[in-house]
Amino acid sequence: MSKQILILPGDGIGPEIVAEARKVLELVNEQFGLGLTLVEGLVGGASIDANGVPLTEETLAVARDSAAILLGAVGGPKWDKLDMAIRPEKGLLGLRSNLELFANLRPAILYPQLAEASSLKPEIVAGLDILIVRELTGGIYFGQPRGVRTLEATEAFPQGERQGYNTYVYSESEIRRIGQVAFESAMKRNKKVCSVDKANVLEVTVLWRDIMEELAKDYPDVELTHMYVDNAAMQLVKAPKQFDVMVTGNMFGDILSDEAAMLTGSIGMLPSASLNSAGFGMYEPCHGSAPDIAGQGKANPLATILSVAMMLRYSVGSESSAAAIEGAVGKVLDQGLRTPDIAGAGNVSVVSTVEMGDAVMAALKA
Ligand code: IPM
Ligand code: MG
Repeated sequence: MSKQILILPGDGIGPEIVAEARKVLELVNEQFGLGLTLVEGLVGGASIDANGVPLTEETLAVARDSAAILLGAVGGPKWDKLDMAIRPEKGLLGLRSNLELFANLRPAILYPQLAEASSLKPEIVAGLDILIVRELTGGIYFGQPRGVRTLEATEAFPQGERQGYNTYVYSESEIRRIGQVAFESAMKRNKKVCSVDKANVLEVTVLWRDIMEELAKDYPDVELTHMYVDNAAMQLVKAPKQFDVMVTGNMFGDILSDEAAMLTGSIGMLPSASLNSAGFGMYEPCHGSAPDIAGQGKANPLATILSVAMMLRYSVGSESSAAAIEGAVGKVLDQGLRTPDIAGAGNVSVVSTVEMGDAVMAALKA
């Protein structure tokens, strides 16, 4: 098995937070004798600037030779006016689809030290631990046909009116494989799966619901419930602790995972894993490139550092080093160290991106 890790810092705060995560990865690599080699590449706007495209064949080839990818974030105002086909986001979507990273795991865990940072009352979020399983390579993000076309001329629109369109499709096998990931994950947790759909309106999610029901028969210990996406969005802010594992399609998962992340106080704390069926994974923070604070040392590196922990657990098979990193993050929070996004109002020490990375290193060495 490859021992190579491809590091793609990307844009905005990406390079700053990835630099801290890389320091941590290098340290545990040594401490735990993992034998990993790290290589860096370009993705997103950084790749557009250097190569004219957000993802090159070379980068994809290096990715295929690696055990995992650690990614920062992509995108920024500099590239927002580019054609859709070569925007930074296409780099990310290209990695997901080319590497078949269909299973996106987005945990939303509230660190007890950060209960005050949540926008909800502490009693509603205390102890929150949800896993969102988002389908990542299908649905309306990738469905064909898609585009903007000009309709035939009418009286009201003599030149023809433009119409934008996308296609929401899921095949049985796509639904089944993401459902399996959800049920398997639930077996290791509280044995509850809530499947989120819009089966009162969309046929594609009627099929989604049917397949989830079918799968549930293979997991008699897991309780399966269904929820419409509008209600799920409401329940997440009303009573989020009712959820254990939530499984849903690409677009609903995009939206609900940001919502769930915010319940924990900061999207700056949450890691994610995107896996294929061979166990290869891409690991990245849930947040974006935050161009407004890039280069100011304000970004929170903990989501990326925790993504390293997920990578070690799922793609490198080293539970002990993953647990060590998570323990070290807990320690720095206990010490009261906070980047501005999680500072809240309490008696805490506000630190920079680099200081936070250094503190995690120190905790690992202690
Ligand atoms: C995410 C992001 C991406 C998505 C964007 C950057 C394409 O919002 O990972 O959630 O929509 O999937
Ligand atoms: Mg998103």
